[in-house]
Amino acid sequence: MSFVLDKIGTLVTLRGAVLKKGRNIKPEDLGIIHDACLVVGGARKKSKILWSGKRDEIPGKYKKFKKINAGGKMVFPGFVDSHTHLVFAGDRSKEFEMRLAGKTYQEIAAQGGGIINSVKATRDLSSAELYKLCLHRVQNYLKQGVTTIEIKTGYGLSFESEKKCLEVIKKLKNTKGVTIVSTFLAAHAIPEEFKNRKEDYIREVSTNWLPKLRKLCDFVDIFLDQGYFDQEDANILFKAAEKLKIPTKIHADELALTGGTQTAINFKSLSADHLLKITEKEINLLSQSEVTATLLPTTAFFLKTAYAPARVLLDRGARVALATDFNPGTSPSQDIGLVGTLAALEMNMRIEEVIVGLTLNGAYALGLEKTKGALIEGYDADFFLIEGENPAKLFYEFGCGREVPGLFSGGVMSRLANK
Ligand code: NIG
Ligand code: FE
Repeated sequence: MSFVLDKIGTLVTLRGAVLKKGRNIKPEDLGIIHDACLVVGGARKKSKILWSGKRDEIPGKYKKFKKINAGGKMVFPGFVDSHTHLVFAGDRSKEFEMRLAGKTYQEIAAQGGGIINSVKATRDLSSAELYKLCLHRVQNYLKQGVTTIEIKTGYGLSFESEKKCLEVIKKLKNTKGVTIVSTFLAAHAIPEEFKNRKEDYIREVSTNWLPKLRKLCDFVDIFLDQGYFDQEDANILFKAAEKLKIPTKIHADELALTGGTQTAINFKSLSADHLLKITEKEINLLSQSEVTATLLPTTAFFLKTAYAPARVLLDRGARVALATDFNPGTSPSQDIGLVGTLAALEMNMRIEEVIVGLTLNGAYALGLEKTKGALIEGYDADFFLIEGENPAKLFYEFGCGREVPGLFSGGVMSRLANK
């Protein structure tokens, strides 16, 4: 579909952020253009930005394209949520009450709650029911302008159940107007069947499950943390992933400092995520590497722990992404706006850093930085419209259940009338 999105009041292109590879972001790197237009071309899923700029500078060859009126609204690149655990059944509100009564997340997990609790519910649900539940969650993201979603497994923890979850994600990938990528996180917890046999489990996952499920996995992840998996386990899993040419991501240093960041550096993982407990050493390692630091502020909020050291990471030049970590235990929220509001208020991130963290740098965390998260020529035409003139408005207003009034992504146009 080829068209010109015309009469854009404020267009956020992120041109500077692309040139700077998502680091040391300043307000001008948002590449804001007022009184702008966006030229879109290409068939369906392959819709690309052909040109973006000032309305009165549009190249002649695009002047005869069909025009769609943006009505003076702001236009943003679609959000990229690069870290979600969207495939789970049941809820853990009882554990929420236990925490309110003074128990910690780790104490609850040690008593058979936590991840294993969600595993039971996820195993019990049929594939069709699980798909229905997850599709609804994908739609919840789309309404908010999230057009690229990473989805992890990790609540199956048996070959059959992990396969079921990967197949649900595969089916979700067919949803129109959204890009979905899958991450294999069988190393999320040790299932009952392997109790006290962690080494056996990680070998089984690495040498048997992963090769068989290879085609369904875009990425491999591990929960490297106290009481879960360690660096040695990660070495076994990530070597298997390397052999199969699957890029890695890692849950690093969330509950305790246990070497996750170091492992991400060693294996050149795409991202190291969480980072609540990192110190100077890890901050410097990340800042000087290509590993994207993915921060998940709603998790720190929900666990009532100190937030990740975003300001220091950013000031040292690290590439910082933001994501929801949507999961039933530590971040039961799909609210992408709240992630930005907490990043600004609790982690002292500036609005331009928040915007890049939720778009281009999320794309970096998925190896999609050449096509997602910016509105300049050659990038995928994934964008949303929103009322107003100031980008900060997106995070200044919070808890309001915002649905974007217009969305175009993957060649699908929603709520965008041709006026
Ligand atoms: O990202 N850290 C590991 N996984 C989730 C929590 C999973 C759960 O409690 O269900 C997280 O925080
Ligand atoms: Fe997570």
